[in-house]
Order: sequence, then structure tokens, then C-alpha cells
Amino acid sequence: MKKPNMILSIRLFLYVFLSLAIVSECVQGPQFWGSLGFPSCDGDLQSPINIDTEEIPKYEYNDLFNFKHYDDVASRITVTNNGHTLMATFDYQPSKNRPSISGGQLGGTFEFEQLHFHWGAQIEKKYSGAEHTIDGVRAPLEMHMVHRNVKYNTMDQAVNHTDGILVLAALFEMNTNNVMPLLQSVDIVHKMVEPFMGNATLKPRPLSSVLPEDTTAFFRYRGSLTTPGCQESVEWVVFEHRAHVIVGQLNMLSKLRRPDQKLISHNFRPTQSVNARKIYHMVYKHPGQVTAESASAGLRSPLLAVYGAVAAVVLVCNSRL
Ligand SMILES: *[C@@H]1O[C@H](CO)[C@@H](O)[C@H](O)[C@H]1NC(C)=O
Ligand SMILES: *[C@@H]1O[C@H](CO)[C@@H](O)[C@H](O)[C@H]1NC(C)=O
Repeated sequence: MKKPNMILSIRLFLYVFLSLAIVSECVQGPQFWGSLGFPSCDGDLQSPINIDTEEIPKYEYNDLFNFKHYDDVASRITVTNNGHTLMATFDYQPSKNRPSISGGQLGGTFEFEQLHFHWGAQIEKKYSGAEHTIDGVRAPLEMHMVHRNVKYNTMDQAVNHTDGILVLAALFEMNTNNVMPLLQSVDIVHKMVEPFMGNATLKPRPLSSVLPEDTTAFFRYRGSLTTPGCQESVEWVVFEHRAHVIVGQLNMLSKLRRPDQKLISHNFRPTQSVNARKIYHMVYKHPGQVTAESASAGLRSPLLAVYGAVAAVVLVCNSRL
């Protein structure tokens, strides 16, 4: 007689427990960042996005980015598990030799600050943890090389301006032979970075060694930081060509822990709406070879649209007077 009741109450308990667990997971989840005091996270220019290669035309361009000091060997590279990601900082001697990028219609010089990774848990021997997806497909790993516009002195200032940040993003493919150069030695030191705030010093190498082999083809768009406060201050460059990582390096990342000792397990934000944004698929052509719609004309068109909109508003406002 008592048994069904007991099963019922156990069930009820499980339902309540599970619902609470799901709710508590949800209210901390990315879809609630906007209501948790980070209003920018609900903005119209959010990142990451899905890049639909069928939908976006290719723009040929001939003004390559000017990578400066990218081939200089760093005097020291430190990786730190900050509880959200594994972040690498590079020191240079002298310090004015920090790598920077200009040209390529960036409209300024952007100095390298740090790089970090986004990864996912392993499900059925498959890793998927990149933030940007290409035609709906999520790569195993994504690296963000964060640069600050030199007209702002600090990252805190730069993130408050629409021209503050440039992020170079590399998607990785899993490869059995090609080790990611940066994390080569982490097999040995991974125990040091596994706990929250654990850190390790890596073998000095140039920043260029972490880039994909071909950096001339990329997707470019206006977006945001992918963690709160989601400031819409980022010019995104997502390289079309992949970098390489071996399964051992992905395994190492998936063992890193949060402050509460739980595994970080996955740290990618879901893709956000593209809305009215234009995404550019930039493909390098030697000067004289440019045949398709010119890249600069393509990049200027949003500005023309803004001028057009301003003109329309001025016309409407004037006609009201
Ligand atoms: C950036 O903007 C936020 C929000 O408006 C403000 O609280 C903060 O002080 C600003 N930071 C800097 C360095 O200007
Ligand atoms: C690295 O970790 C050690 C030991 O916890 C700590 O003393 C040191 O300050 C850390 N270094 C950095 C750069 O965070």
C-alpha cells in the first residue's frame, strides 16, 4: 500500500530537484547575461556568429595587414588558467617591441594584449568547442588573439569604444601529427595550469608561430566580446584557414578547473543573431589582379548606408519643421 506513494514522492522530489538544478544552471547561462547587469549582451552586434559562406560574397583586396614584431621571439610566455579559459601573455625585451597590426583598412594600430582559447567537452570522441561556426559546423577549438587600439591606454578604456579592440580568431582542426606550437610543452606542465589560477612558463617563441599558415583569407565583421560585459567594441577577423591541434592538447584543456574545482568543460558562447550586419569574406589578390568588386568599396558600403540613413533622418526632421 505504501510503496506507490513512496515512489510518487521520490519522483516528485526528483522532478523538483532536477527543475531547480536546470533553473539554477539557466539563470547563470549566457542567455541571462543581459538581465544580470550586462545590458550590452542583449545588443544587436553580438558575437560569436554563424558564418554562412553561401550567403556572403567574396571581396578581393590587396592591402594586407601589416604585422609588426610578430616574428620577434618573446622573452617570456606565461599561461594562466583564470577559471574561464587558458590565457597566454607574452613579454618582450625591450617592451616597445610588442607585436602590433595596422593597415588593411583597420584605421589604426592595434597592439597585442593576450590570447586565449575556447573549447568544448568531448562527446563520443568528438570535440566541438569553437565560438564561431562556419555553415553551422563547430570546430574543436578556437583561439582569440586580442589586440587593443593604441589610441587607448588600457583594455578597460578600449572596450568602451567601438574602435577599441581587434580580435584575430583562428579555428583549429584536429590532426594526428601537427601539434599546436604554443602548447607543445604543456604536456609536461599541465598539472601546473589544471587548478584555478595555476600558471606555467612556456618556451619562448614568436607570436607568428601560433597563426594559421595562411592569414590572407578571412571573414571580417563588427561584433562584441563573447563574455560579459559583451561590449560591442570588436573588429573580428576570423581566418578561413585552420590551425592544427592534436587530441592530447584538447584533452589537456578539457582537464582545467574552475574556482569551484569543477571542470571548465566548455567555454563557448552560443552563436548570436547577425541582424543587419554585413560579413565580408576577404580574399587576397596581388595588385593588378583585382577583378571582382573592390574590397574597399565593399567595406565602405556600411558607411554609405549610415550616411544615407542620417540624410533620410535630416530630410524627415527638416520637413517636419
Ligand atoms: C567604461 O564604461 C563603463 C560603463 O559606462 C564605466 O562604468 C567604466 O568606468 C568605463 N571605463 C573606463 C575605463 O572608462
Ligand atoms: C603563478 O602561480 C604562482 C603560484 O601560485 C604565483 O605565485 C604566481 O604569482 C603566479 N604567476 C602569475 C603570473 O600569475
